[in-house]
Amino acid sequence: MYAHLQNKARTTPPVNLSTLRKFKSEGRKFAALTAYDASFASLLDEAGVDLVLVGDSLGMVVQGHHTTVPVTMDDVLYHARAVAKGLHRPFLMVDMPFMSYAEPRQALENAARLMQEGGAMMVKLEGGARQLHIVEHLAHSDIPVCAHIGLTPQSVHKIGGFRVQGREDKAAKKMIDNAVALQESGADIVLLECIPAELGAEIADTLEVPVIGIGAGPGVDGQILVLYDILDITPGRKPRFAHNFMEGQSTIRDAIKAYVDSVADGTYPATEHCF
Ligand code: KIV
Repeated sequence: MYAHLQNKARTTPPVNLSTLRKFKSEGRKFAALTAYDASFASLLDEAGVDLVLVGDSLGMVVQGHHTTVPVTMDDVLYHARAVAKGLHRPFLMVDMPFMSYAEPRQALENAARLMQEGGAMMVKLEGGARQLHIVEHLAHSDIPVCAHIGLTPQSVHKIGGFRVQGREDKAAKKMIDNAVALQESGADIVLLECIPAELGAEIADTLEVPVIGIGAGPGVDGQILVLYDILDITPGRKPRFAHNFMEGQSTIRDAIKAYVDSVADGTYPATEHCF
């Protein structure tokens, strides 16, 4: 009955960092989504999603918290192990939870656990200039790193809410400088959340590494969304960039495929999803 989860003998080669860099150089937009279990991971794989993130958004959409702050290493490892079992082709990125990378040594130990026990091919951490030494430390140990800047949800209590970042010239310039510095420190991907579309495009043009956006406009190299948002499962008010891909589709598989196709042909994100 669950043979799809074991069906690893496929002909499509797995996506790796070289694949994502090639997509960027060819101007081919790639599609990423979050997943938290093996069955959905397998559906994402079938639908052609290129990169899967075990996001700490699981704290909100799976555990019911109001923020990602309560999520622990054990939580993320549990979901990462499950997701890894459902995947063959997509690249697997896993979030480092709040306070799991406050010091270089702690960051290295936890990133190693995410890779060795959770099956991560890359870890993601939040923060700009203050994380350069952590990114450098992980990169020196050959741990692929995605640096998440713009709106960083783990800092929600410090920022004072979930709000668009980089609107003013000074803040935009600082974000570009941070993105460049993160790349120079060894970040292999930069993820931008909730920033003006023009700024997203400028950062993607400036950097050599692939840039993924969530609410960062159409000018970035790849898009990522929270799976439960595109399936219209998340209750309450949705962020502006969220789009209900179930609309007009009769199955979850078709909805995920519609997302992948819309990213590839540039119809997502549309103006209404941008800041
Ligand atoms: O945890 C998550 O789902 C994320 C995305 C919002 C990119 O970090």
